[in-house]
Amino acid sequence: MITVDSAAGLREQMAKSRQGGKRIALVSTMGNLHAGHIHLMQEARQHAQAVVASIYVNPLQFGPNEDFDSYPRTPGHDKVALLAAGVHVVFMPSDTVIYPRGRGAQTVIEVPGLSEDLCGAFRPGHFRGVTTVVHRLLMLVAPDVAIFGKKDYQQLMLIRLMVEDLGIPVEIVGVDTVREPDGLAMSSRNNYLSASERRTAPQLYETLCALRDRVLRHGSLTKEAEEAAVESLKSHGFRPDYVSVRRQTDLAVPQPEDRRLVALAAAWLRRTRLIDNVEFELK
Ligand code: PAJ
Repeated sequence: MITVDSAAGLREQMAKSRQGGKRIALVSTMGNLHAGHIHLMQEARQHAQAVVASIYVNPLQFGPNEDFDSYPRTPGHDKVALLAAGVHVVFMPSDTVIYPRGRGAQTVIEVPGLSEDLCGAFRPGHFRGVTTVVHRLLMLVAPDVAIFGKKDYQQLMLIRLMVEDLGIPVEIVGVDTVREPDGLAMSSRNNYLSASERRTAPQLYETLCALRDRVLRHGSLTKEAEEAAVESLKSHGFRPDYVSVRRQTDLAVPQPEDRRLVALAAAWLRRTRLIDNVEFELK
């Protein structure tokens, strides 16, 4: 496994892989890797002979009052995990490699509409930061395939839209969410939870499953079903940002004829914001 931190070093490695006729996969992360990230690396190996993992805590996607400074950074642990996962190249750029003219001067990429909906309504500018950095990484690595988790469902959808709109020649693969045994979606932010919050946290997934079951029983989505989910989260001590059932293809509010749906939620436990989602299909 080779670690590179410069654009030139990365280009050299990518050129070697391409000359060897290898398909290249990119898995972008903010580090503090857990089993969910590692699952993405394994998926990447199914799609390519050269797997590049990037580790970059992207300042552009954090709001002024968010956890950029306290976001867990564990590069030593991450490299050990990536080596064990069979990753070939680790790209650990500095801010100047990603944003050479400074982040204030960076050309930004923004998908209109969906960037302001759901999580975007509560985290202004967040998705602009995500699509800007993912675009930059896609340009630097030029992978054949890029792997993203469905855990960040809206992020995955926005990346698909960006790639389509800009005609970027890369296949985007979405991977199912890896969960703790009690159902909690794995996330670096789970580290912020106190012991008692950690015991409550699986209720987010439970609530989404109950919402799914209610919609399935009823045969269609009702406003009451979403409201009951919000109340259920509140009763467990969450402060919900939103609970919403959308259609899978574009995260639009579902029409009566839509069958493939996804229930999404974001909710706070004291100072930790958790997100999750559950896909399902109406018969
Ligand atoms: P990060 O939160 O580190 O996640 C990196 C990738 O791992 C994302 O594609 C995310 O969806 C996926 N992932 C996280 N938890 C997962 C889980 N429990 N199961 C499956 N996949 C999981 O998402 C980001 O970083 C950033 O926004 C990034 C795309 C790197 C841009 O900065």
